Amino acid sequence: MTTWNLSQMERHIMICNGATCMRAGAEDVTGQIRDEIRIHRLDEKIHTSRTRCNGRCKDKCVVIDYPKGTWYSVQDEDVARAVVHESANRDAVIYSMENGERKRGENRIKGINKYKKGNSSMKKAVLFVGHGSRLQAGNEEVLQFVEMMRADIDPTLLIETCFLEFASPNIEEGIQKCVEKGADEIHVIPIILLHAGHSKLHIPAEIEHAKEHFPDIQFTYGQTIGVHEEVFEILKSRLEEVGLDVKEKHEDTAILLIGRGGSDPYANGDFYKISRLLWEQLNVPIVESAFMGVTTPSVDEGINRCVKLGAKKIIMLPYFLFTGILMERMNKMAQQYRVTFPEVTIEIAEYFGYHPKLKTVLLERMNQALDGTSSGMDDLENFRQYAKEHGYEHHHHHEHV
Ligand code: FES
Repeated sequence: MTTWNLSQMERHIMICNGATCMRAGAEDVTGQIRDEIRIHRLDEKIHTSRTRCNGRCKDKCVVIDYPKGTWYSVQDEDVARAVVHESANRDAVIYSMENGERKRGENRIKGINKYKKGNSSMKKAVLFVGHGSRLQAGNEEVLQFVEMMRADIDPTLLIETCFLEFASPNIEEGIQKCVEKGADEIHVIPIILLHAGHSKLHIPAEIEHAKEHFPDIQFTYGQTIGVHEEVFEILKSRLEEVGLDVKEKHEDTAILLIGRGGSDPYANGDFYKISRLLWEQLNVPIVESAFMGVTTPSVDEGINRCVKLGAKKIIMLPYFLFTGILMERMNKMAQQYRVTFPEVTIEIAEYFGYHPKLKTVLLERMNQALDGTSSGMDDLENFRQYAKEHGYEHHHHHEHV
């Protein structure tokens, strides 16, 4: 281990390398500050350290200069380099010390007090996390769905909704909202079909990050929807809506269950399990599986399989919660298949949407989190192990939903 001689040291610059600041370019900021110090031969005078989250994520990237105790929000390279010379523009200052008094920069929010003075009674919040879509209608559906659940939720609970990506508020902002409204306990419930990267890593990462900010708030984590009995009820009623009597035998009908598709083999495996269990509950000869992306079989391949197996009628059955870009794409595909295979009747069923059974599942997931029986807590532990072994940086890499 290094032992620096710090006798010449006059200043200590701390550069936030917490998850949010890292996403906003803290790595570059760190490099620029260290480079500026080096070229001006200030290494003996200015020491730098990377830190974890400093609890001012909104002001990313956060840099703190001691002993003056100036907090900066570094948005670009010029500011990063100016911090070294204490010449950064006032706009970049979050907090400074003036005449022994701590002053907040003009355009900075006040933030919330670190510790609440034990005033109100315990307040529990439930934070639903939707995936988020580039199609605003999909996000509206998530919000509307949570609104519809409200009637069945204990009115003393604080209910908020946020999104993993493509829509706001994001999870961090959702948690912040709950805290601002006085929550002591936050139960984070994913509105997600299959247990994969988002529910195994991304949401746990946000929760673990939030715990650093809010050490006196308790977090729990709900399970994804997964392979749940009610899901088959939803799928069957969507099939009935397009004219399939699920109690009858259908000789020439094929169901093509279509999922989003992902890179988690277990999630893709769960999807196959669902299509098999659906087959068990129906009286059709063929239930095929297909994915909209990332993995195969593709929807084209799925349709071709059904046709080759002799189906006279194919029902495309989306395994999707809400509308979005992929649902729109799927509808276009159905039109195309009707042209390509005029001898086959091709139907497309509705996605889950506002199905009442979806509400049942989500309420069950919420209650498990509230009463401490959610296996989501294991996911948090697994994530901590994973982060320890592999390191973890939040990023997204897949296509639109
Ligand atoms: S990650 Fe930098 S302040 Fe939170």
